[in-house]
Amino acid sequence: MKVKTWLSMMAAALTVFAVQAQDMSEEAIAERIKPMGDVHVAGAASESAAAGGGGAMSGEDVYNQACVACHGAGVLGAPKLQVAADWQPRLDERGLDGIWQNALDGINAMPPRGTCGQCSDDEIKAAIEYMIEGI
Ligand code: HEC
Repeated sequence: MKVKTWLSMMAAALTVFAVQAQDMSEEAIAERIKPMGDVHVAGAASESAAAGGGGAMSGEDVYNQACVACHGAGVLGAPKLQVAADWQPRLDERGLDGIWQNALDGINAMPPRGTCGQCSDDEIKAAIEYMIEGI
């Protein structure tokens, strides 16, 4: 009888643990799909957002946090950092405002806001300006 009681307690404990483990893994997945090195910067960003702005990230910061994962090496055909041949045709066709809008909305394999959900429109624009700087 005692063993049975113990077993059912263990089962209950395991159920609780399993539920928690699932929550954890959702968080873990959210963490995993963020670009590397993002955790600290993202914390700082949401702190400044919570404080009512005034702490906008530079374009380079946003790029390094959210965009480098794809735009660094041209993953999935993403136009690469400061490579004119990748960016110029897009700028010719749509202009800065056009590619900015597509970055906000997402286009093909480009996710909306490049996965930077907490980035402001202006921070996304700054990241684009950084990516096309000097081309
Ligand atoms: C998951 C990979 C991925 C991430 C992360 C990502 N991009 Fe992209 N991006 C792409 C791909 C792929 C394209 C090319 C889409 C196409 O034209 O088919 C693209 C295209 C773009 C374009 C050109 C849009 C146009 O109209 O031609 C801009 C601007 C852009 N990304 C900005 C950003 C910014 C800013 C970030 C970070 C905040 C970012 N991207 C993060 C994959 C990514």
